[in-house]
Amino acid sequence: MTTGESIRSTILTNDPLWWRQAAVYQIYPRSFADGNGDGIGDLVGIISRVLYLASLGINAVWLSPFYPSALADGGYDVDDYRNIDPRIGTLAEFDVLVAELHDAGIRVIVDIVPNHSSNLHAWFQEAIVSPKGSEARNRYIFRDGKGKNGELPPNTWTSVFGGSAWQQITEPDGSPGQWYFHYFATEQPDFNWDNREVQEDFLKTLRFWSDRGVDGFRVDVASMLKKNLDPAYDGLVDLDRLGQSLFHDGLHPIFDRDEVHDIYREWRQVFNEYDPPRMAVAEAWIPSHRLAPYASTEELGQAFNFDLLRSRFDADSFKAIIAANLTLSAETGASSTWVFSNHDVVRHPTRYGLPEYAQAGSSFRIGAEWLKNGGLPDEIDVAGGLRRGTAATLLMLGLPGSAYIYQGEELGLHEVGDIPADQRQDPIFFRTNGSEIGRDGCRVPLPWEPTGTSFGFGSDGTHLPQPAWFADYAVSVEDDDKDSTLNLYRKALSLRAELQGAEQLEWLDAPEGVLHFARPGGWQVITNFTGNPIALPAGEVLMTSSPLVGDMLAGESTAWIRA
Ligand code: GLC
Ligand code: CA
Repeated sequence: MTTGESIRSTILTNDPLWWRQAAVYQIYPRSFADGNGDGIGDLVGIISRVLYLASLGINAVWLSPFYPSALADGGYDVDDYRNIDPRIGTLAEFDVLVAELHDAGIRVIVDIVPNHSSNLHAWFQEAIVSPKGSEARNRYIFRDGKGKNGELPPNTWTSVFGGSAWQQITEPDGSPGQWYFHYFATEQPDFNWDNREVQEDFLKTLRFWSDRGVDGFRVDVASMLKKNLDPAYDGLVDLDRLGQSLFHDGLHPIFDRDEVHDIYREWRQVFNEYDPPRMAVAEAWIPSHRLAPYASTEELGQAFNFDLLRSRFDADSFKAIIAANLTLSAETGASSTWVFSNHDVVRHPTRYGLPEYAQAGSSFRIGAEWLKNGGLPDEIDVAGGLRRGTAATLLMLGLPGSAYIYQGEELGLHEVGDIPADQRQDPIFFRTNGSEIGRDGCRVPLPWEPTGTSFGFGSDGTHLPQPAWFADYAVSVEDDDKDSTLNLYRKALSLRAELQGAEQLEWLDAPEGVLHFARPGGWQVITNFTGNPIALPAGEVLMTSSPLVGDMLAGESTAWIRA
């Protein structure tokens, strides 16, 4: 099916478990489609592409933040949780978008950012003009500084984006004042989640969007809401590294503390006020065995599992990760989640095209260190990276549980490596003085057409520069090519909808470097991680991620088989 053809609309049911095996497509609104030619993607742009979204065969979209924001962190610095950034649209347009997506059989998940607001949020503005010790300050984490005149930060904790995690304010009378805690950018003050007013305001926000017809929430930085600022922890210089020993037991001062679960148990009550209950998925970069309570039915229901995303393209490692996560979800009753790309990481075809040493890593950094040296597209294995990337994707789409797809991956886009320093936006780049390249390379506006000032993104420019090679990956070009990555994703998603049965997987015997498993109903998935063609198992070949070599499965490719 191509974009222009009419779409058979699916009637959305009240199935309370619709999300358990959903294919969810992440939209980064500023970079998806620009309806008014100002270079910034917007809701009107998304509305104009609903047919395209329907043509993909996805079950839901997740919209990254579209709230009013000064964009200190790409919109994850929220000024107002119950509104739309005027550059992105209006609440009325949001309602139209939800209605049109629902008519097309697509559910809507919005991003909720509870760990911190922006420094322009009305509450933070009130806090800095209110006296020390006031109710207004108590909604955030303010502390007196150390040193003779409080001129030193309260402790040595650092921000994940680089630099101190504390920022000093100037008191209303002009004197140097208290310090506030920000784990992310300076413009992202952390909320005090021990404060009932903060807790209640988020319940209000959840109801606000649920009442507007939103089907679920992606919970940003879900594991960090509760903090323990006991001076005993002051010595931790780098929360990421020195905290590792405390990381896994619920006792780290800011990561994954056990008290955070009280919050989500309360949220679950709100989700269950709706029919069907609203779903939620936790973003938490913590060891997968600690994800279980977040994903339980008493809390959010689902949590991103980033293990595959962090792995090399390697049979043994993929198998161990898949097996461990399926065991965990069987134990807790949560559904598994799988994801290779999102707005925070180097796109997976690029990771898999990097020199081997750079393919694995943790969180935001995978491959980024290498990219800083400049090199796309010449220095990576462009074709090989994409071949491994689509093999991995086809494997993922065959797994039980839900699959998250990031905008542009259906086009086979690589990371954009060569954005000039003066056009970069990510605070990671600025707070590390450019020593870390940041995440702009996966946030470049999508190419819809092979020509034009913004490759059809809008009628004028783009807020991040698009490289010339985007022309080859444009939606209209791939639409017309039956062998394109886009048509591969479409075929896989539509077959998946047909074949998806119970959340079960049975491993079948396979040679070294090959994974082979069966799903209920005779659906089999086989991935050849080696470089050489292998014989296919018996059965009808439904599709492959790379063309067959004679009657053999090509190296670094996946086949779906009906046995
Ligand atoms: C999450 C988001 C990331 C953001 C951070 C702070 O990790 O995915 O984009 O920078 O939270 O909100
Ligand atoms: Ca716009």
